[in-house]
Amino acid sequence: MSDSKNQAAPKSPKTPARPTLKAVRGTRDLLPDQTPLWNHVESTARSLFARYGFGEIRTPIFETTELFARGVGEETDIVSKEMFTWEDRARAASEKAQSLTLRPESTAGVVRAYIEHKLGETGQLQKLYYIGPQFRRERPQRGRYRQFWQIGAEVLGPQSSGSDSPLRDAEVLEMLASLLNELGVRDWKLELNSVGNTEDRIRYNAALREALAPVKDQLCPDNQRRAETNPLRVLDSKDEADQDLINALPKIADHLGPESRDHFAQVLAALDACNVPYHLNPRLVRGLDYYTRTTFEFTVTTGLGTQNALLGGGRYDGLSEMLGGPKAPGIGFAIGEDRLILTLQAQAEADAAANPGAPRPEGTWVKKLDAYIAPLGAAQNPAALALAHDLRAAGLTVEVGDGTFKLRKSFDIADTLARHIILLGEDEAATNILTVKTFATGEQTKVPRAKLAETLA
Ligand code: HAM
Repeated sequence: MSDSKNQAAPKSPKTPARPTLKAVRGTRDLLPDQTPLWNHVESTARSLFARYGFGEIRTPIFETTELFARGVGEETDIVSKEMFTWEDRARAASEKAQSLTLRPESTAGVVRAYIEHKLGETGQLQKLYYIGPQFRRERPQRGRYRQFWQIGAEVLGPQSSGSDSPLRDAEVLEMLASLLNELGVRDWKLELNSVGNTEDRIRYNAALREALAPVKDQLCPDNQRRAETNPLRVLDSKDEADQDLINALPKIADHLGPESRDHFAQVLAALDACNVPYHLNPRLVRGLDYYTRTTFEFTVTTGLGTQNALLGGGRYDGLSEMLGGPKAPGIGFAIGEDRLILTLQAQAEADAAANPGAPRPEGTWVKKLDAYIAPLGAAQNPAALALAHDLRAAGLTVEVGDGTFKLRKSFDIADTLARHIILLGEDEAATNILTVKTFATGEQTKVPRAKLAETLA
């Protein structure tokens, strides 16, 4: 055995305290008191998606920059300002450096995967969902982060699979309404629009350019540029000073051709049949370039402040071709999971304040463990661990203390963590009869080891 413990430690020159490191601005840690609600939301979504015939897809967190430039659009805020992009250096002299980007959204990656794995050749409609982090360099605030989570889904396939049927749009919207209802989100509002097909958009863009030309100089510099390059983007500008001019611009609804009008009417009829309420919003063009025909957002009034869009989505009938793939009309959505959680938390807090005795909703509180085992003396530690193993194997949630703890300390810890404390001393080990205290009633009983699992469950 080394005797180094007995030697005085050499005096080290005083080193300055190192600065503590923090999570990067716009990113956050989710601690164990928060993750139950995340897991509840995710498992509810997974189970509902399965009932609608969706399967899970997991695509990479980074992709080539070109995928987003082509898919989401160069002129969008996402691609022009918000992407985390880097030059990935070549591995060999013969290789070129590659521009890569942390995904700011997942639709482009899913459609790339659809093309790459020739999913269209099955002839079947593909119903795919994903849950995962996305990255945008936005100014952080409540409900807006640089790393955030989306729960999204995409329905796409060759036309022969029925992928461009208005029924698909309505089914996705009805599924979202059901999910929000099942999670207990109150006061959601579905805002709906049609941005037309490619031909309608060409006509509408021409009308917008014409209307923008005489007022262009009064717009902010960003909108002046967009008025030239992609006038539709002016419509989702948040610039306060430009809002009156934007509201006076022509409405897309007045420029839809018969095909788009008919498609939209059928979506609305199916929503009516399913009793899904909606509000038509002619300015809802969405901040991504791939959308055609149906576009939508669900907003809420509780918990989100200005970032009140809980989720967004729409049709993207030309996206596969934009990415070099076959024709594959599609529709999808992405829920901002961080925002959904904020909404549920705010609702739960409001409910608890209004009605303190009411049971709290699933996921908004951490469940207590079934039992805490307190070994009385270090000699009982091995037996305590063996007992914990048996109870855990029987399906109970169990924590083991330490035989060096004073009894008072064991009781205090057990009371915060668990519903019962099991005392394991020499007598208990010898007789296999354990002392169990139930905190809710204060009752203390002797329970044979063989009966513990059923008594505590
Ligand atoms: P998006 O509207 O850009 O659409 O994002 C969808 C949702 O993600 C938003 O409604 C919002 O709840 C959430 N979100 C966006 N940015 C942030 C952020 N910085 N922090 C927190 N939450 C955020 C899309 O991403 C499309 N890919 C949706 C889609 C799927 N369209 C068709 N298929």
